[in-house]
Amino acid sequence: MARGERSGQRGGGGIEAKAQNAGAAAEAPVDPKTIPALMDLIRLVARSGAPQLKLRLTVSILLTIAGKGLGVLAPLVLGAAVNHLAADQPAGVSVGLGFAGFAVGWAIVRFLSSSAPQLSDVVFAPVRAAAQRTAATETFAHALSLSLDFHQTKRSGSLSRTVDRGSRSVDFLLRILAFNLAPTGLELILAAAVLGGKYDWRFAAVAVVVVVVYSILTFSISNWRIEHRRTMNTADTEAAGQVVDALINYETVKSFGAETRAALGYDRALGAYNDAALKANSSLALLNAVQALIMNIGLGVMAVMAGFEAAAGRMGPGDVTAAVLILISLYAPLNILGFAYREIRQSFIDMEEMLKVTRQTPQVADAPGAADLVRPEGQSGGALAFEDVSFRHDARANGLEDVSFTVQPGTTTALVGPSGSGKSTIVKLALRLLDPQVGRVVIDGADVRDVTQASLRRAVALVPQDVALFNDTLAVNIAFARPEADETAIWAAAEAAELAEFIRSLPDGMETRVGERGLKLSGGERQRVGIARALLADPCILILDEATSALDSRTEAAIQKTLRKAKAGRTTLVVAHRLSTIADAEQILVLKAGRIVERGAHHELVARVGGEYAALWKKQTRGARIGLDGDRQSAG
Ligand SMILES: Nc1ncnc2c1ncn2[C@@H]1O[C@H](COP(=O)(O)OP(=O)(O)OP(=O)(O)O)[C@@H](O)[C@H]1O
Ligand SMILES: [Mg+2]
Repeated sequence: MARGERSGQRGGGGIEAKAQNAGAAAEAPVDPKTIPALMDLIRLVARSGAPQLKLRLTVSILLTIAGKGLGVLAPLVLGAAVNHLAADQPAGVSVGLGFAGFAVGWAIVRFLSSSAPQLSDVVFAPVRAAAQRTAATETFAHALSLSLDFHQTKRSGSLSRTVDRGSRSVDFLLRILAFNLAPTGLELILAAAVLGGKYDWRFAAVAVVVVVVYSILTFSISNWRIEHRRTMNTADTEAAGQVVDALINYETVKSFGAETRAALGYDRALGAYNDAALKANSSLALLNAVQALIMNIGLGVMAVMAGFEAAAGRMGPGDVTAAVLILISLYAPLNILGFAYREIRQSFIDMEEMLKVTRQTPQVADAPGAADLVRPEGQSGGALAFEDVSFRHDARANGLEDVSFTVQPGTTTALVGPSGSGKSTIVKLALRLLDPQVGRVVIDGADVRDVTQASLRRAVALVPQDVALFNDTLAVNIAFARPEADETAIWAAAEAAELAEFIRSLPDGMETRVGERGLKLSGGERQRVGIARALLADPCILILDEATSALDSRTEAAIQKTLRKAKAGRTTLVVAHRLSTIADAEQILVLKAGRIVERGAHHELVARVGGEYAALWKKQTRGARIGLDGDRQSAG
């Protein structure tokens, strides 16, 4: 009788199977406590900003109560009709009319009682929708506000599923709790009151005992069944995994003659699935049988008791009908109790998983009362300083140690050093995507922790190591930092980034879509879109984390030209891999294992005997010469 279930059907386990499969991939969520979860739900509704929240809530609760009241009243009206029929009167027009009047009344009351919840749902639906929307938006916005650390750890797919499932379960919970479970409880009280008040307290006792026993058995059998369904889902995932794995690796399977072994493995996984599916199926049958048994025992006891009362003349035959009908209509909503219980449990889990995201506090947050960054008048470019900064990722043994340097306004500082030495980490600290454990980062005299992140990021723009683009047009991607920018400004930025010619050569021009993460563009083109985007933001500090992948010399020359233009009138911090590109920088910092080991201008560093930079320079210029020779040879 548990609805919404298709058992014994592989891969077709409905919502439940999908939800659990996805859940199994992440860390297993725990069952939340009911009362706090209910409070969470109520708080969500309260801040949902639904239109006429109070009015809608009141009206729908009143309609629900009215519906249940009428539902209990209906059997009484029919009972009265039957009593009329059976009354010891000569058959005739008066009896017929009386009976017909009550019977029609019964039909009307029944109709009203079943349309009241529909009406109530219509009134309440906007509240559910608003709560669902609030939950989803809040979680999304909060997830975006969380720090780098969260985003580097999360799995985008699971996060989006968490938000999706969580917000949908808010809707489901509101519907089932407000219009199913609570009203059924109310109906039980009403029915017990009527049975006890109008007939006999023992009738009420039968109704209550039956519902209580029914519920307890349903809950415990459902709990036990959940295990079977879980085993079933695990076995299903396992079987699918085996097949896909063997099919992907078919060459290995074939070349080692392992076809039979692979097929046997699949068969074993299917066997485990079958066992679990059979158990799930028979336990469902058991649940249904137990439910039916209890209900019918209740009905039987009630009918016999009422029959004795009627025989003793204390009740009319119509009253027997009414008592039994009240019980039957009370049982109707209980049919879905098993299903509702399981889904409610799952929905609470889903909702709490979603709320867990909103409860995470960002590691990097605006200080209370943080002010906007104030730019000094008439200064071209911002001043950037690192003061004794140390930073370590998580619990790693190594990180940045005691990094101190100053970048004067309007000048260029280059960071060089081997891969993993901490260059990108310095960039992230300057943008305050991370906060240092020791020391401070200062921009225009202000500790970056004391100003708002919004004003900081308006002042500083980054062209990251690998520019990722939105799956949208070039125009939208370039204008990302300033969506209100007009076409002229966008073209000017493209021009400055040496991108305009390329864009003009495209059939769709600025409206060209760049594909997922911009993968329809070459690496160099992507980087120039990143530069155009940063230039349009017009920052006072420009940070370029140069891509490690070697660009061809023509693209590199183009980018060099771009950068020279971009540097005009601003402070720049460049992470460079080719030293030839930074020969004109005012200051070069050589980083090694998280420490600055050398600093100075290019000519000073090159001249240093036995210096890191000098060695690197020698290696790169020799490499370039060999490369040129190679080119010449292959050309010749
Ligand atoms: N989120 C992170 N969690 C833990 N460790 C990290 C994280 N990001 C970077 N690291 C580590 O910090 C060190 C410095 O990384 P960083 O990205 O700053 O190097 P880099 O100098 O930019 O190197 P490359 O030239 O290869 O880009 C590396 O050892 C890296 O593994
Ligand atoms: Mg890097």
